[in-house]
Amino acid sequence: MKVLLVGSGGREHALAWKLSKSKLLKHLYVAPGNGGTEPVAINVPIADNDIPGLIKFIRDKKMDFVVVGPEDPLAAGLVDAVEDLGIKAFGPRRSAAALEADKAFAKKIMHANAVPTADSRVFDRFADAKSYIASRETALVVKAAGLAKGKGVFVCDDPSDAILAAEKILNERIFGPAGERIVVEEKLIGQEASILAFVDGRTIYVMESSQDHKPIGDGDTGPNTGGMGAYSPAPVVTEKIMAQIDREVLVPIVDGMNRQGAVYQGVLYGGMMITAGGPKVLEFNVRFGDPEAQPILMRLQSDLLEVMLAVCEQRLDQITLRWDPRPAVCVVMASGGYPGSYAAGKEIHGIEQAEALEGVKVFHAGTRRQDNRLLTSGGRVLGVTALGASIAEAQQRAYQAVDCITWDGAYCRRDIAHKALPAAT
Ligand code: AMP
Ligand code: GLY
Repeated sequence: MKVLLVGSGGREHALAWKLSKSKLLKHLYVAPGNGGTEPVAINVPIADNDIPGLIKFIRDKKMDFVVVGPEDPLAAGLVDAVEDLGIKAFGPRRSAAALEADKAFAKKIMHANAVPTADSRVFDRFADAKSYIASRETALVVKAAGLAKGKGVFVCDDPSDAILAAEKILNERIFGPAGERIVVEEKLIGQEASILAFVDGRTIYVMESSQDHKPIGDGDTGPNTGGMGAYSPAPVVTEKIMAQIDREVLVPIVDGMNRQGAVYQGVLYGGMMITAGGPKVLEFNVRFGDPEAQPILMRLQSDLLEVMLAVCEQRLDQITLRWDPRPAVCVVMASGGYPGSYAAGKEIHGIEQAEALEGVKVFHAGTRRQDNRLLTSGGRVLGVTALGASIAEAQQRAYQAVDCITWDGAYCRRDIAHKALPAAT
């Protein structure tokens, strides 16, 4: 098959790497890809949100299958447009992608289907938001309703901070049109976990659990980022909790979307808070997580292309998902300054040495190749990922690999997967 993968992050390198192993694959193209996808695929210089450009390429080059990595093209209807050409595409259609692209819609469907989540209110006028926030005594979270690259959320222990956040989003429009409405909700306490599932509209196959590390600093300090590291499985998600998430979250949401006529196909990602009162949904994403995809795909033994095709053809029930029992840990190496401003164009050294270590794979995110040199080109640069016999071994190998890699200004958290170690609980 001729397959086009859309996206350019660490998640897309992991997807490209896994797709390139498929026995069904003949040619793999990535638009636009990065320095890591180049050796396993053909990079095509079309931006992931250039829907007309992508459609022209898919039609002209006669692709057989399209895999969409990030949320923006899903929300913009890329899957619908590919299907209009009579070609299959992996990912939800626009109407179903609203589960991530519109947090107010996600809250509505959760309430309608009794899915456990934080109590919330939606506002489009600052004055209303302000008087509501002022009337509350507990800590609140203020979120832009639209897509803001994982950065549109303010966790506020103090009501005055929540009012300030509402003002920035609604009045100052710091996230542009993504901030036309806000969701204000109670702050939940617990450990976070990412639960991803393949969904074909009828069958739900839950993947192995994982945990992301959103804040920039060790000990979960500082501003939120796209994700500074992840590991799988997450011990906080016991079998009982996983069954509860399946029963109380995934099944009702997939049924609820069906009843709305927005049949869900693709990866459904529940960002969960495991609270003392059970698991509650923080958000839904309509795609693989980044960096969760890196450890999860390291552990997936099944043919990914076969699974994705089965999702599109609604025959997921005929597939078996096989997993490597070994845990995996991914440490994100970022440009110094991220998630604020940072320098790009720094030369990266040491990836070969890192990958020579047992069980290690280095996924690229913000990298590009120029004259045989590998340069940084983004905030999150690499996802250094390792398998090990235990979380502790995977973590040790990942950091050993990180220590082989250098560039001017490289930064990473030093405590990825720490919460999963027995001594930490
Ligand atoms: P979201 O994009 O909605 O998942 O929010 C990003 C991050 O903000 C989450 O991963 C949490 O760390 C934090 N967060 C979001 N909502 C809440 C909440 N209700 N209570 C506590 N933390 C939250
Ligand atoms: N790692 C969080 C996300 O992909 O949204």
